[in-house]
Amino acid sequence: MSLVRICGVRKSYNHSIVRRVAGDREYPVLKGIDFKVEREDFIGIMGRSGCGKTTLLKMIGTMDRPTKGSIFYEDTDVRRLKTEELAALRRNKIGFVFQEFNLMENLSVEENIMLPMVLNRRGYRDMRAVVDTNAGLLEISGLLKKYPYELSGGEKQRVAIARALSNNPDIILADEPTGNLDMPSALNIMDCFTRINRENHKAVVVVTHDPLIASYCGKVLFLGEGVIQEVYESSGNRNRFYEQICNRQILSYSRG
Ligand SMILES: Nc1ncnc2c1ncn2[C@@H]1O[C@H](COP(=O)(O)OP(=O)(O)O)[C@@H](O)[C@H]1O
Ligand SMILES: [Mg+2]
Repeated sequence: MSLVRICGVRKSYNHSIVRRVAGDREYPVLKGIDFKVEREDFIGIMGRSGCGKTTLLKMIGTMDRPTKGSIFYEDTDVRRLKTEELAALRRNKIGFVFQEFNLMENLSVEENIMLPMVLNRRGYRDMRAVVDTNAGLLEISGLLKKYPYELSGGEKQRVAIARALSNNPDIILADEPTGNLDMPSALNIMDCFTRINRENHKAVVVVTHDPLIASYCGKVLFLGEGVIQEVYESSGNRNRFYEQICNRQILSYSRG
């Protein structure tokens, strides 16, 4: 069974500014999205600014609800979950990574990584063991006593990824996770996601507009006009995949 199924998802916003311009007409951002995420998937989502990438990722992460359509986690339709059940699913099955890192500035690195486990009332020894394992994986073992302001952007993002892994989720959702990083740090982050996907067997979904970042993924969905316009699959050759993604972008720009 697929880990996540996105079935006929539509999303419209109808806020006051849009109403003033468009009358009572809805303003559709997503017009029918269908795809599946398997446990071994490493998926990139690309598309121009404003096309609905964040909107889609938030709905996969159950942080927002579709206007129409359903999202299933295995055989659970998230629409049917009560508030507390939904919060538990979000805490235990999903790890979030954001462009701005979203670390707690007044907590140490170690405490930041522990936070999701504290919310799950895990014991201290158990939390320590998880921190050590994930810090090792992300090569931040030497930073555990530091505070976010003492870290570089790349280090902050590795801490944020370690935090996202704390409750051993099935899937990591990352919205432009390399958007605030220089290229070497950005590629290092993509290496981390690759390891998490291949060695820790977690599904990873990354939103990006950078072809080089997307070339690390096994599959790239191109979002535009409210739908998935195309899906590219990598043959495993990253250079080749990068070229394919670049070529598609050049074509789509020249189409206007
Ligand atoms: N909470 C919201 N209320 C109203 N409109 C929104 C909201 N969030 C996003 N939008 C609009 O939906 C469209 C898609 O936004 P978004 O998903 O953030 O795009 P992307 O991440 O691809 O840049 C944009 O036109 C944006 O202005
Ligand atoms: Mg966005």
